[in-house]
Amino acid sequence: MEELVAGKIHDEKRQGEAFLPDIESTGIHNKHFYIESYGCAMNFADSEVIASILQQNNFGATANFEEADLILINTCSIREKAEERIRKRLTEFKTAKKQNPSLIIGILGCMAERLKGNLLEEEKLVDIVVGPDAYRTLPQLIQEAETGQKAVNVLLSRDETYADISPIRLNSNGVNAFVSIMRGCNNMCSFCVVPFTRGRERSRSALSIIAECEALFNDGYREVTLLGQNVDSYYWRDEENNTNVSFAQLLEKAALISPLLRVRFSTSHPKDITDEVLFTINKYENICNYIHLPVQSGSTRLLQLMNRTYSREWYLAKVDRIKEIIPDCGLSTDMITGFCTETEEDHQDSMSLMEYCEFDLAYMYFYSERPGTLAARRFEDDIPLEVKKRRLQEMVNLHRVHSLKSMQRDVGKTFKVLIEGTSKKNQDELFGRNDQNKVVVFPKMNFKKGDYVIVKVHDCTAGTLIGKAIS
Ligand code: SAM
Ligand code: SF4
Ligand code: F3S
Repeated sequence: MEELVAGKIHDEKRQGEAFLPDIESTGIHNKHFYIESYGCAMNFADSEVIASILQQNNFGATANFEEADLILINTCSIREKAEERIRKRLTEFKTAKKQNPSLIIGILGCMAERLKGNLLEEEKLVDIVVGPDAYRTLPQLIQEAETGQKAVNVLLSRDETYADISPIRLNSNGVNAFVSIMRGCNNMCSFCVVPFTRGRERSRSALSIIAECEALFNDGYREVTLLGQNVDSYYWRDEENNTNVSFAQLLEKAALISPLLRVRFSTSHPKDITDEVLFTINKYENICNYIHLPVQSGSTRLLQLMNRTYSREWYLAKVDRIKEIIPDCGLSTDMITGFCTETEEDHQDSMSLMEYCEFDLAYMYFYSERPGTLAARRFEDDIPLEVKKRRLQEMVNLHRVHSLKSMQRDVGKTFKVLIEGTSKKNQDELFGRNDQNKVVVFPKMNFKKGDYVIVKVHDCTAGTLIGKAIS
C-alpha cells in the first residue's frame, strides 16, 4: 500500500493540526493536487479514497498548495462554525487563483452536498463541487473545469461504498489507519445534517474491509479504526456464502487477522450497541476497551425532541452494562447544550448524567441550527447564544474534573501501549495510547514506532499519562 503526504488535517477530535513535510518523488506525475480535510474521521478516510482516484489519473500529491494544479477542500457542515472556517479558507485559495488562473479549486464533502451549485454560481468560490458519493467522477469533472465548464456532481447513491478502491494513506504515521465500513446514516436525529449530506446508510462488503485491514497489517500498520456514523447497525449480506455479517462478527474477523493488530471503532449509537458487541470486545485482547457512545443530552424530554430514540434511563443502563461486561472500558461521549426549548432543569439533567458516567473524554458543543434539518423545520432555536455558551462552559468545567480524576486513577497502573511516534514536547520521549485510548508518554530507550511496550504510569496531566517502560 502506498503512502503519500498531502495537505492538512483539521479535526476537532484530534485536537490540532498536522503540519506536513513536502513530499518527494512525485516526478512521475504531470499534475499535482493538494487536499485539506475538515470534520470527522470519515472525511479523512474519504480523502484517502480521493487521493487514490486522483493518483490513478496521473495526479501526484503535494503538501504545498502553492505548487498544486488542483486544490481540494473536503468539507464539513456539522455546525455553522465549521462552514465559516471553510469559507474563509476558500477565500484564501481564491486569492491564490488570481495569481495562477489555471489553478482549479474543488469543494468536496458535506458542505458541497449541502450547498450544491450555490458555491459555484452565486458565490463563485470554486470550479468544482463534488458530493461524498460522487468521487469516482472527479477525473471527468476536473477535465470539464479545465475547459471552463461548471463541474458539479452531488448525486447521492444507495450503494456506493468505494469498496474496490484501495485508499492511499495521507498524513500517515504508518501505525494507525482509518477503515470505512459503511456510509451514510438512517437515523434522523433532529439536529443533524449528516443524513442529508451523506445519504442513506449502506454497509461495505466485509470481504473488502478485512482485505484492507490485512493489507494494512502486512504494510506494518498496528491499529485500525473501523468507521461509520452508527457502526452497530453494520450489516452485510454475503450472497456467495449465503451468510450475514453483523458488526460483532466483523469486529471478530478483524481481531483474528493478528493478535498484533489493534482494532478500534467509532461511532456507537446507544440504541444499537448490543451485548454481542460487548462480549466480542471482551473476548479479544486486541479489540480495544474503549467505546465512544454519544448521548447528546441527559434529559429524556430533550432526547425525544432530538429523535435519539432512547431515554436517559436507557443510556444509563447501557453504561452500567458496558462496565459490567468490560469493567476497565474507557468511555467517551458527545454532548449538546442549548438545544431547542432546553430549560435549566434539562441542563441539570445533562450535568447529573455526566456526574453519573464520569466520562474519560467528552466532546461538547452548543447547538447550532442547520438549515433543512428536522429541528430547523419543527422547532424554534430559542435558547440565547449566551445561555448556550454558559451551559457549555459549565459542562466543560465539570468534565475537566472527571477527566483529571480518570487520569489520576491510572497513576501507579501498568498499561500496554502501542507506540505512535516521538513526543512533540520532548525528542527523547515517545508517545502512544493504551487500550482505553489515553495518551501515554515515556522515555525513548530503544523502543520505536509500532512497538508494543508495557509502561508503568507514575504521573499525569489533564490529557496525558506519564510513565516508564518496564518491558
Ligand atoms: N453519528 C454520531 C452520533 O450518533 O452521535 C456522531 C455524529 S456527528 C458527526 C458528531 C457530533 O456533532 C454529534 O454527536 C453531536 O454531538 C454534534 N452535532 C451534530 N449536529 C450538531 C448541531 N447541529 N449543533 C451542535 N452539535 C452538533
Ligand atoms: Fe447524525 Fe444522529 Fe446519524 Fe449521528 S446518528 S450522524 S447524530 S443523524
Ligand atoms: Fe462533518 Fe460530514 Fe462528518 S458534516 S462531521 S464531515 S459526516
